[in-house]
Amino acid sequence: MGSSDLVKFEALSPAEFFRRNREIAGFSNPTRAIYQTIRELVENSLDATETFKILPSIKIFIDYADQSRNWIGIYVEDNGIGIPGDEIPNVFGRVFYSSKYRIKQHRGIFGLGAKMVVLYAQSTTNTPILVRSAPLKSDVIYEYQLMIDITRNEPVIVSQRTMENRYGWHGTAIKVVLEGDWLKAKRRVEEYIRRTAMVAPYAEFIIRGPDEDYVIKIPRVTTKMPEPPKEGLPHPKSVDVELIKQLIQKNPEAPLLEFLVENFDGVGETIAKTFLDFVGLQPDMPVGKLVNDELVNFVTKMKEFNGWRRPRADWLSPISEDILAEGVRFVLRPEVIFTVTRKPSSYMGNPFIVEAALAWGGSIEPSDKPIVYRFANKVPLIYDEGNDVVRKIVDEIDWSQYKVKFPAPLAIVVHICSTKIPYASAGKEAIAEVPEIESEVRNAVREVARKLRLYVTRKEKEQELLMKYAIFSMYAEEVVNSLSYVTKADIEELRSSITALIKARLKIEKFEDLINNNNKVENTNEDNKEETQ
Ligand SMILES: Nc1ncnc2c1ncn2[C@@H]1O[C@H](COP(=O)(O)OP(=O)(O)O)[C@@H](O)[C@H]1O
Ligand SMILES: [Mg+2]
Repeated sequence: MGSSDLVKFEALSPAEFFRRNREIAGFSNPTRAIYQTIRELVENSLDATETFKILPSIKIFIDYADQSRNWIGIYVEDNGIGIPGDEIPNVFGRVFYSSKYRIKQHRGIFGLGAKMVVLYAQSTTNTPILVRSAPLKSDVIYEYQLMIDITRNEPVIVSQRTMENRYGWHGTAIKVVLEGDWLKAKRRVEEYIRRTAMVAPYAEFIIRGPDEDYVIKIPRVTTKMPEPPKEGLPHPKSVDVELIKQLIQKNPEAPLLEFLVENFDGVGETIAKTFLDFVGLQPDMPVGKLVNDELVNFVTKMKEFNGWRRPRADWLSPISEDILAEGVRFVLRPEVIFTVTRKPSSYMGNPFIVEAALAWGGSIEPSDKPIVYRFANKVPLIYDEGNDVVRKIVDEIDWSQYKVKFPAPLAIVVHICSTKIPYASAGKEAIAEVPEIESEVRNAVREVARKLRLYVTRKEKEQELLMKYAIFSMYAEEVVNSLSYVTKADIEELRSSITALIKARLKIEKFEDLINNNNKVENTNEDNKEETQ
């Protein structure tokens, strides 16, 4: 009896795989589906604006498409670079189709997000997605209604038209109807946008809910944007055999030396020669001559060799200390903020940068352990905190070293940017444990924590001085009164010389500053959330 009688074999299309396993992409239940939909669309919008130096303006409108069936309409519009008309069907209708499969820092990485939204909508309400988009300077606006042929992993165009672009609009607008629980999802969505604003204070958001009076406007607080990321080359430590084979195929005649210098990051001629010496290969040998085991050996040696330069980090786009501070100040309204952007580092040939902000006091509610805000390539990570390296490291720190006694009003913000974020899952919610990243996170958090310790120490001293001053002044008043009674000296003169004496003794130079500082809570005037009643 052949085994084919016992079991049936078949292939699964990527679209079908993700329809069946949507929870691994974050669409695990109706609440989460709404959050994940908004998140995927907003991330695409931010990538399409910020990466091209456009200040993002993002609108998110939610309505009840059919309340009795829990059908929710979600509309997201941006002012980004738009999508070329002929790319729109694939971009929304073919799982694993993307413009972001490059060595560059992006929010999107899998070429999956937009398609998950379409798949989820079509699996729950059987309705197509509506896409309108106009690339920069386009005379027309493209409009499509799309679904996915799940077994073929191909777009199905339900309708299509172009309209005149009368007002020179550019950007993308998407409307989708899916089954979901808005009331439950609402808080997560708000939190997601609030946290996004923390690291992108140069973006403005407006969220309008299904209920008439539900509007949240998050204004742009700065027009300063981080330098956009550049596109990079693979670092020799990050490659595998398959990548080398693909590169060789492009130009098999290239001499080894040239092959190394041109295709990789961190390799100059001298370094390439030293490496070839290390492997025992001639610099002028055509790279196409490397076969089978030689190839594998070549790649192994690339990883072993320690003479490469460090991966370049200028294709990363950190938020930068001052923009991060503005965002955090605006959203959390603390008494004080400390920030750091660490120097670039790398893991397995992938460059990364860790940034941290520590916010203390003010509007931050005291809690039993630090509140942690995690970000990866400027994307807030909300779920799965327990599995994340950042939470782990913050919890490992002995905060008493930094003069923090819990409950304390302490928030730690950590941003990791990289050409390759090691996410723990396709839902992109937690960062996996990578030793190099862990150690940088630890250093970053310690650095801001040390600044907090200095601040707290200074404040304690000031407090002490003020206390002494208050006591001295109280007695001084009696002394002044008695002295003037006995000596008939002018009471004002006596008072001012005694006050001067006290200040000199207490070594208080800028007394007014001290008093003012002590009660000062860092001020931000605008409201971050103006809910119209
Ligand atoms: N709002 C948008 N503006 C411009 N391009 C977009 C937008 N949304 C999606 N795209 C394009 O569609 C591609 C696929 O998006 P998506 O499925 O979310 O995957 P990813 O973001 O991982 O690339 C993106 O790479 C981008 O080129
Ligand atoms: Mg995306």
